[in-house]
Amino acid sequence: MDLLIRDAQLDDAEAILAILNPIIEVGAYTVLTTPFSVEAEREFILHFPQRGIFHVAVCRHKQEIVGFQNIEPFATYNTSAFDHVGVIGTYVSLLCRRQGIGRSLFNATFEAARCKGYEKLFAYVRADNTAALATYLSQGFRIIGTAQRHAKINGRYVDEIMIERAL
Ligand SMILES: CC(C)(COP(=O)(O)OP(=O)(O)OC[C@H]1O[C@@H](n2cnc3c(N)ncnc32)[C@H](O)[C@@H]1OP(=O)(O)O)[C@@H](O)C(=O)NCCC(=O)NCCS
Repeated sequence: MDLLIRDAQLDDAEAILAILNPIIEVGAYTVLTTPFSVEAEREFILHFPQRGIFHVAVCRHKQEIVGFQNIEPFATYNTSAFDHVGVIGTYVSLLCRRQGIGRSLFNATFEAARCKGYEKLFAYVRADNTAALATYLSQGFRIIGTAQRHAKINGRYVDEIMIERAL
């Protein structure tokens, strides 16, 4: 697929949710449990941290957003100790998986992250999300631990795998 990777814009909110909300509704891939409204997503994009990175992947042929990836600073409280650490999230349309969209997003996001001074990336992945785990491991992440029974989704406990990658 011929892709353009660019920064997310306010007007992408609806297209981003057309990817994210069906993934949330499946209930198998993310710890997010409640679909977002377009208004909430617009607020999220509008107030996205200045040091963050928010990329969308656009299929050039269809001129349609088919995936997105973001990095947010690790610390949400008042310290500079974690300025070099970003938390990464990746979402590709359920209809377009395994076509290299994730890989293209990672390439662009790693580059942008280095430019913004990040030195390492961190994420939690649901232990039952083997596709995501395989994807992150294929991108140089390594497993650093398991938070057991960390999420409780529809009454069922799910372990969370902690992963990291140096940039
Ligand atoms: C995880 C996700 C982002 C991967 O995106 P993708 O565009 O399908 O990934 P790519 O096609 O770029 O795959 C890159 C590599 O990752 C690995 N990979 C991806 N999906 C895989 C799967 N289902 N099984 C095994 N390996 C897989 C492979 O090594 C693949 O390379 P290959 O196809 O040449 O063998 C996508 O499956 C997704 O959005 N899942 C739902 C949301 C989610 O789980 N997000 C992660 C939580 S932060």
